[in-house]
Amino acid sequence: MSGINAFEHGGNLYAKMRETGGGFSEILDFSANINPLGISDKIRQTLHESLESIIHYPDAQGYALKNAINQHYRVDSASITIGNGAVELMYILCHMLAPKRVLVTAPTFSEYERAARASGANIEYFYLDERDSFEIDIEKLMKRFTDIDVIFICNPNNPTGTLLTNKQLEKLLEVAKIQNTYVVIDESFIDFLPNADTYTCRHLLTQYENLIILHSLTKFYAIPGLRLGFSLASPRITMMLHAGKDPWNVNTLAQNAGVIALSDNDYQQLSQDYVAEAKLELYNKLLTIKNLKPYLPSVNFILINIKETAMTAKQLRNVMEKHNILIRDCSNYPGLSSEYIRVAVKHKEQNRILIDTLKRLLGGI
Ligand SMILES: Cc1ncc(COP(=O)(O)O)c(C=O)c1O
Repeated sequence: MSGINAFEHGGNLYAKMRETGGGFSEILDFSANINPLGISDKIRQTLHESLESIIHYPDAQGYALKNAINQHYRVDSASITIGNGAVELMYILCHMLAPKRVLVTAPTFSEYERAARASGANIEYFYLDERDSFEIDIEKLMKRFTDIDVIFICNPNNPTGTLLTNKQLEKLLEVAKIQNTYVVIDESFIDFLPNADTYTCRHLLTQYENLIILHSLTKFYAIPGLRLGFSLASPRITMMLHAGKDPWNVNTLAQNAGVIALSDNDYQQLSQDYVAEAKLELYNKLLTIKNLKPYLPSVNFILINIKETAMTAKQLRNVMEKHNILIRDCSNYPGLSSEYIRVAVKHKEQNRILIDTLKRLLGGI
């Protein structure tokens, strides 16, 4: 798949609303992986209270937000760059590093490839094997580092949900360091994991100058329309990112929302507990639908092989859309095909509607 379609994300919510003339509430969007609990009351209140302050420029230093990130994730403030979503930082990073050869796993989140291509890089794929449940074989991956300037690793990986422990990643960082390869680890879904400490590489930042961590705050805090993310890196890379970005890239509402969100332990715990339960419930119900092969989820989305249904992902997406349900057709992911879809884990009642609709279309087992 090439051209602009290669970078389409989930079902297009806005196009669907234009078509039906309806609003957000009439569409069940399983194509974007957003915390099903929605925005917290605290964020809502902060947004209201912050409205007056938008007559001023935002804090270009992001002082309070960096402090909040420093407190919550126990990282040095000097390693933080705040972004208008994690995706903005992917583009700035690629622009500033100007890599010639970039390695991405396939399948993975498409914006790594898009950002790298936009800065003139050639892309190489490390294909993951369905027969290994798309697990990343790090021994094989490390053998591909020669002459690679940057490798992107998504952990947990979107759309497969596979995970690498920080012990595995440290081995990889060691080899990459010798080969002068930057390792960009996208931990955007890591907050959903109750045992994130086993997987995060934050504590390795001081040891590996070739490590860059990306972290979206839009998934876990359900604010993709507000845009907020950050990166963690060595002081040298951090200075470079600051030199390459708009000084006011993160607006005041997003900065204030981030400060409140990161201190909201109740919401964080509730979200982890809810998603942990809902994802297993959804997974188990998907197993009861004829000819679907869901992959065991690690976080708030589930990859499903639909080959045995004899429908393509596009056909199933179109039929589901007629029921006002959007799912992710995965056929434009390098490394996947028209045999795969992905669904988000949403509220339990919404998940039941998804299951009932799929069951009516495909049958039970
Ligand atoms: C792995 C991954 N990283 C980052 C993003 C986007 O993050 P943001 O909304 O902060 O730009 C996504 C969105 O789907 C994603 O899947």
